[in-house]
Amino acid sequence: MRIIVIIPTYNEVENIGKMLDVLTREEFPKIKDHSMKILVVDDNSPDGTADVVRKEMKINQNVELLLGSKQGLGVAYVRGMKYAMKKMNADAVIELDADFQHDPRDVKRLVAAMDEGYDQVIGSRYIKGGSIPKEWEFYRKFISWGGNLFARVVLLMFTLHDATSGFKLTKVKGFLDHVTLNRLLSKSYAYKIHILYEIVKERSARVKEVPIKFHFRERGSSKIEHEDVFESFKVVILLFFRSRFFKFAIVGLIGFSINAFFLEFFRRFGIFDNLGGSFSYLEGSKLNILSQPSAWSAAAAGEVAIVSNFILNNFWTFASNKFTQPLRILWKFLEFNLTSLGAVFIQFAVIGTAVGMFGDTIIVRQLALVGAVGFLIVPYNYTMYNIFIWKRWKIPGLAWLQR
Ligand code: GDD
Ligand code: MN
Repeated sequence: MRIIVIIPTYNEVENIGKMLDVLTREEFPKIKDHSMKILVVDDNSPDGTADVVRKEMKINQNVELLLGSKQGLGVAYVRGMKYAMKKMNADAVIELDADFQHDPRDVKRLVAAMDEGYDQVIGSRYIKGGSIPKEWEFYRKFISWGGNLFARVVLLMFTLHDATSGFKLTKVKGFLDHVTLNRLLSKSYAYKIHILYEIVKERSARVKEVPIKFHFRERGSSKIEHEDVFESFKVVILLFFRSRFFKFAIVGLIGFSINAFFLEFFRRFGIFDNLGGSFSYLEGSKLNILSQPSAWSAAAAGEVAIVSNFILNNFWTFASNKFTQPLRILWKFLEFNLTSLGAVFIQFAVIGTAVGMFGDTIIVRQLALVGAVGFLIVPYNYTMYNIFIWKRWKIPGLAWLQR
């Protein structure tokens, strides 16, 4: 594979020469199965960083330089990633800092993990064997740890331990080439969180974390500012409002309102009075529930909500992989309906029983609906979706149904 190590630089004249040296002379020769190249993305550093790179390029084919104006780390990386994909035919890119806080000797470990079959490999400071600089004062440690925890919790990425790491490898095909590089929420450091989110959540990449020691910066100075820290929190929150989890919850709330409304609508206009009436001979028997128009109304209202949930989820929550072909939509709808059938049945049984016991009033119907949805249907749907829709729970013996 063709792997491009992207190194952004701003005033790194004291570091970049040594970094290029270590990578191309000591480390790349150890990576036998891949073609390794470096792309330095410099924002016209006034200290002459680019001159050092140019000097190296005269004697080294594996180094390229991309210049631009300084608009932030994210802008520099986007420019570099596009160039690596379009002009250098990258199969994978590695993000690496120039200042030796990331150890260039860890590059081969990231590549080795990719070779094991992973789509993204993260150099992680927060797993066993990883660390942050002990020289950092408490405040810096706390911000790093807290910001990271915040991103993981809000974006439901618990399985990842370092969401803000600046050292990682990402495959291009199917992953980086699908990231919305032109519409990232940050021009600065928080671009990392946005890309990570899309790769992990929207592209469902197989991710591996390898432990790294994040060293203390010995030469030059950090470019991160207070605004960058605040912006990272902002980006996490904005991503949450775009997340499937959030959309799914909104669709659920809309579905519930529709359900409650149609239950009363069907009752009010007596839509199911005849159907209930045709079972009136069962009144007083064990099957009394069949003669309850409210039970039929609840089941029908449940079905209306299912239709609404399906449409909204397909065209909004899961818009990025929605079904568009009519036959496919129909098939998926039937499948969705089949898994939701239990929910219709639960509504029929619970509301039918409740009105039978406590009288057929709006209060009883609506309370029974809240109870049915909250205590039975949400857990039921959660189980069904995990088994049949997202197939996250593998059930022995059901493998044939879970394909
Ligand atoms: N081209 C360009 N333009 N490069 C930049 C810019 C910019 O605006 N800002 C920073 N860089 C380069 C630096 O020259 C360095 O090579 C690298 O990006 C990282 O910058 P630092 O300023 O050293 O960042 P840091 O050490 O504070 O932050 C690192 O750790 C964070 C996690 O603690 C980075 O890796 C962050 O991405 C990471 O989130
Ligand atoms: Mn640094």
